[in-house]
Amino acid sequence: MMPALRIIGLTKYFGALCAVNNVSIDLLPGERRAILGPNGAGKTTLFNLIAGDFLPTHGSIHLFGEDIGTMPPHNRTRLGVSRTYQNSLLFKGLSVLENLFLSVRGVKPHRLSLLVPRSTDPYLARAREWARQVGLAHRIDAMVSELSHGEQRQLEVGMALAGGPRLLLLDEPAAGLSQAERPILTRMLRELPRTITILLIEHDMDVALQWAECVTVMHNGAAVFEGTPKEAASNPTIHALYLGDHDRNTSSSTSRT
Ligand SMILES: Nc1ncnc2c1ncn2[C@@H]1O[C@H](COP(=O)(O)OP(=O)(O)OP(=O)(O)O)[C@@H](O)[C@H]1O
Ligand SMILES: [Mg+2]
Repeated sequence: MMPALRIIGLTKYFGALCAVNNVSIDLLPGERRAILGPNGAGKTTLFNLIAGDFLPTHGSIHLFGEDIGTMPPHNRTRLGVSRTYQNSLLFKGLSVLENLFLSVRGVKPHRLSLLVPRSTDPYLARAREWARQVGLAHRIDAMVSELSHGEQRQLEVGMALAGGPRLLLLDEPAAGLSQAERPILTRMLRELPRTITILLIEHDMDVALQWAECVTVMHNGAAVFEGTPKEAASNPTIHALYLGDHDRNTSSSTSRT
């Protein structure tokens, strides 16, 4: 089967710093893959390379067989790559529905006033559908500023879904969530359609274990392990590298920079 995403020998230098070092990953269509690793391991840089925010120093990236490694970000978006950011990019002065509507339309907030959708607008119907998919159907008219932290994270996933991606990159969607909010997010992520292949950066081992089918662990820019969540949890090297700082990540807000 053709991989949804094939990364070969991906490398990114920032000056002398090798942030991503010769990483190769194959993702099958519909796969749920978690990327684990300590702060500075190169996880977000890997996403920036896949989404096109940075160009690689070496290596290739193929989406369903098509070479996207040097394309500008908007072309990758058009081909179905979508992502969330470690820091929120929600439009705080707008409602849940308005945020989703803008994402479905692929436009910026200043154009919302020009759009003023009719209640029968098919884009509005799709925005409502995504709100339901991410568990926010009951909060559709709430302003972003009124949402809990967990609800904001759900909305961010909804915004990334709104364009109908084939590959979804989620950068620490559970960061800063309370113990009560985490299972809600995990369940929502589990219910996303299998037509979407998902790569998720996660510090919380519980979220990763419950959700992912396969785990890649990064350290110092390199992919140092690939296996099932169970294999990862019982691997002594990973335990030393990663699970050692587990408490830090579940007790308070995490590494958001
Ligand atoms: N634009 C940049 N310019 C220079 N160095 C960068 C840049 N982006 C990232 N780095 C460096 O690359 C390394 C990897 O950073 P990256 O943000 O990818 O790590 P991460 O695994 O996402 O960490 P965290 O868990 O803290 O989010 C770090 O040493 C970081 O300082
Ligand atoms: Mg990061």
